[in-house]
Amino acid sequence: MNVLVSGGSGFIGSRLVGRLLQRQHEVSVLTRAPERVRDHLPAEVRLVHWNSGGSGHWEEAIHDADAVVNLAGTSIASGRWTHKRKDLILYTRTDTTRSIVDAIGRASKKPKVLVNASAVGYYGNVPVGDVTEEHPSGDDFLSHVCKEWEEEARKVERFGVRVVLPRTGIVLDKNGGALQRLLIPFRLFAGGPLGNGRQWFPWIHLGDVIGALIHAVEGSTLTGAVNLAAPESVTMKEFCSMLGKVMHRPSWAPVPGFVLKTVLGELAGPLLLSGQKAVPGKLVASGYRFQFPELKPALEDILRGKRGKME
Ligand SMILES: NC(=O)c1ccc[n+]([C@@H]2O[C@H](COP(=O)([O-])OP(=O)(O)OC[C@H]3O[C@@H](n4cnc5c(N)ncnc54)[C@H](OP(=O)(O)O)[C@@H]3O)[C@@H](O)[C@H]2O)c1
Repeated sequence: MNVLVSGGSGFIGSRLVGRLLQRQHEVSVLTRAPERVRDHLPAEVRLVHWNSGGSGHWEEAIHDADAVVNLAGTSIASGRWTHKRKDLILYTRTDTTRSIVDAIGRASKKPKVLVNASAVGYYGNVPVGDVTEEHPSGDDFLSHVCKEWEEEARKVERFGVRVVLPRTGIVLDKNGGALQRLLIPFRLFAGGPLGNGRQWFPWIHLGDVIGALIHAVEGSTLTGAVNLAAPESVTMKEFCSMLGKVMHRPSWAPVPGFVLKTVLGELAGPLLLSGQKAVPGKLVASGYRFQFPELKPALEDILRGKRGKME
């Protein structure tokens, strides 16, 4: 297949691109900065310049695509949520999605599927009970972003294009995302849960995110919102305790919620102090088999060094 990936230079996108190439697909990446990302992506990847949306020559890449995966958007966790930053978080997702959907509408040959990123933040804080894709959206800022983002993506269905909205949980990998930051205090023997530790921590191994995205691209019948979180649900406290065990470090120093709110501002609430028990029943029912359904082997895989020793 010809697969077009926007945001293909990022944490998830660059791993996805590598796996797609291994599976003999042709890959193009929509990027704002081809020169900057050239050295970070394999030479076989065709880079297509866009200004994160709007119309332009980049739209020609849509004509060639059998599948489009849209991962573009400014980082949610890399700075305090000022009004300006919140606007940027929202419109770098909704505007890019709208541009892609509009370009698909104009294309004479349309892709079969649009896989458009979303997040478990859609549900807001749900302290009790399983959260399936039927669960209503929450009412905090991230829920609002995910809802608007998904609404833009769903408009592609009017062109007969299948849409998949991966509501992704907390992606675990050593080289980026949440775990990279959590590892620092644990390495210093100062790790522990954030807040009271009772909030759900909907983790997923990066390998399974990539596996599920490829499953969505390669002709599965998956459609609509899909939870991307591992089958074994854990709370923040259980997660930190397992991380400590795997790293042979204590998990004893909880960081009180008010400290996180003082240091990080509003983002501490939706990103660190709340959660939801997102269950992946729909993904599993569609035929996807998790590589890492359980936390301990997932952490061991991520943290094991080249020589098999824990890092
Ligand atoms: N990582 C997670 O744990 C997680 C969990 C749930 C959902 N998600 C969602 O999944 C998507 C991919 O996540 P990720 O962790 O791979 O993100 P990432 O590393 O921050 O990469 C996102 C990509 O978006 C592009 N981008 C950045 N700022 C942009 C802007 N202002 N306008 C347009 N494009 C911009 C960049 O591509 P160029 O610089 O090449 O243009 C970048 O490579 C994101 O939308 C994220 O919200 C991630």
